[in-house]
Amino acid sequence: MPIRPATADAITDAAAALRDGRLVAFPTETVYGLGADATNARAVAAIFEAKGRPRFNPLIAHVADAEDAARFADLGPEARALAAAFWPGALTLVLKKRPDCTIADLATAGLDTVALRVPSHPIARALIRAAGRPIAAPSANRSGHVSPTTAAHVDADLCDKVAMILDDGPCAIGVESTVVDVSGPAPVLLRAGGVTREAIEAVLGAPLASHLDDEERPSSPGQLASHYAPRASVRLNATAARLGEAFLAFGPSAPNHVGPMINLSPSGDLIEAAANLFAALRQLDASGAPAIAVMPIPETGLGEAINDRLRRAAVR
Ligand code: TXA
Ligand code: MG
Repeated sequence: MPIRPATADAITDAAAALRDGRLVAFPTETVYGLGADATNARAVAAIFEAKGRPRFNPLIAHVADAEDAARFADLGPEARALAAAFWPGALTLVLKKRPDCTIADLATAGLDTVALRVPSHPIARALIRAAGRPIAAPSANRSGHVSPTTAAHVDADLCDKVAMILDDGPCAIGVESTVVDVSGPAPVLLRAGGVTREAIEAVLGAPLASHLDDEERPSSPGQLASHYAPRASVRLNATAARLGEAFLAFGPSAPNHVGPMINLSPSGDLIEAAANLFAALRQLDASGAPAIAVMPIPETGLGEAINDRLRRAAVR
């Protein structure tokens, strides 16, 4: 059993394993990550192998702070403003790589940009500091599966692939980081996530362009339509569930349902709903129901990230 409570000793051992080129899963405030030394191409290759992830899909490197980020990439004025406002936190910035960037080309899929994030989770931060290098980490699930928000979720997908899973309980935010590309002339939202569009636009003082669902030319290579796929089929915008379906409800007006049902937030709170989303999808999927009916969720605040994940879960 590779799960270990995230004590100081466990973090020391995890950092040693990372420096040794092995994989360690660790908690962040968004979802659990599958970490490797981002400067070690073989260790990064092991991430792609463990997840069954296509190699054209680049990884996020997790760094200690904005100063650390500046060792690997150029931060322009917009990047600096966003970093000041949201780091540490659930924001990933896609930046122009510096010529002397030591992050492995495989981690960035050979692009001239690199995705960097400074997580706020104390265990993630301690691990980055103890490892003394950037940690490449996608969500710690098999490629295409629902992202993990507990150590047990990671264990279910990847137990034989990791040296250790650091356990610090469920993730507070529950959806992945927001990805903003600030490497070009204007910032572009590549993935809705834990920091809301509204909050980012308030800092930029301008609306954010988005390339969220350009199926033809995904500018964020990870934004493939079919993702977060439960075994059950997913039916969106359901006002009620049909007989035999499992029901993913939201808000105070949810109708009753005979059969498996989870209300993401009985009070209609989108923050609570995001935190519950992936565990609820896993649980309803495990009920054995052939389909999951999902109530409509507002497209504001974290609702944008929640709906993005649900739409991907609904694609077959
Ligand atoms: O919350 C999170 O972001 C979690 C935790 C572990 O930090 N990580 C995560 O990683 O969700 P992953 O690999 O599942 O998603 C990273 C996203 C993908 O959509 C990928 O295509 C995009 O970031 N990405 C990474 N590098 C990029 C780059 N240079 N240009 C454009 N998109 C990039
Ligand atoms: Mg992922």
